[in-house]
Amino acid sequence: MSENLFSIRNQAGPLADDMFVKRWSPRSMVKGEVPDQDLLKMIDAARWSPSCFNDQPWHFVFSTDATYDLFLDLLVDANKLWCKNASRIGFVLARKNFMHSGENNFFAHFDTGAAWMAFVHQAYALGYVMHGLGGIHKDKVIEVLQVEPNQFDVMCGIVIGKLGPKDHLPAQLQEREKPNARKSLHEMYNLNQMNDTTKL
Ligand SMILES: Cc1cc2nc3c(=O)[nH]c(=O)nc-3n(C[C@H](O)[C@H](O)[C@H](O)COP(=O)(O)O)c2cc1C
Repeated sequence: MSENLFSIRNQAGPLADDMFVKRWSPRSMVKGEVPDQDLLKMIDAARWSPSCFNDQPWHFVFSTDATYDLFLDLLVDANKLWCKNASRIGFVLARKNFMHSGENNFFAHFDTGAAWMAFVHQAYALGYVMHGLGGIHKDKVIEVLQVEPNQFDVMCGIVIGKLGPKDHLPAQLQEREKPNARKSLHEMYNLNQMNDTTKL
């Protein structure tokens, strides 16, 4: 990935390490393998995430070569269009209730988000790219993957692959094939209280 690609992210910062700033969500991927050992390493990274009561409410379901097309069919058409070149498709689930008490776990989605981010960073460290997908057919995911909807919420889909050249994408997506900018740092926090405008 060239330095240039990230120029939009260099305004007023960034202060964070490259592993954060240089993660982005490309759509152009080239077909290749994500060997089981690499996938396991990503899942292991997720495993070490913190969670309320150490409940570890996250769960993942991944395609194999045999089920890839079945998984692809669980995505909305706009995503299917470019996800067909990914190497693995997965779904991220959050278990709704605490294991120790059976009570509703308010933090399940929060903790699952933390785990997914660890997964993502491990994927990039291994040289893969990833893209999160809200555009999925949830009801179909529940049915096809045999998810128990009373126990799990389907949070999102993910695709993992190797970065491909931009011109492999349909024309309308080529323009969007770049890292997205962010709000300014100072929009994201307050000191002391919400309406305190003092900044670091
Ligand atoms: C939960 C979630 C759902 C998303 N859903 C989609 C989607 O359905 N289709 C898509 O093209 N991108 C999707 N994205 C990608 C976001 O648009 C992207 O992460 C965001 O614009 C920030 O860009 P960056 O990841 O390149 O920094 C999703 C990302 C997340 C985290």
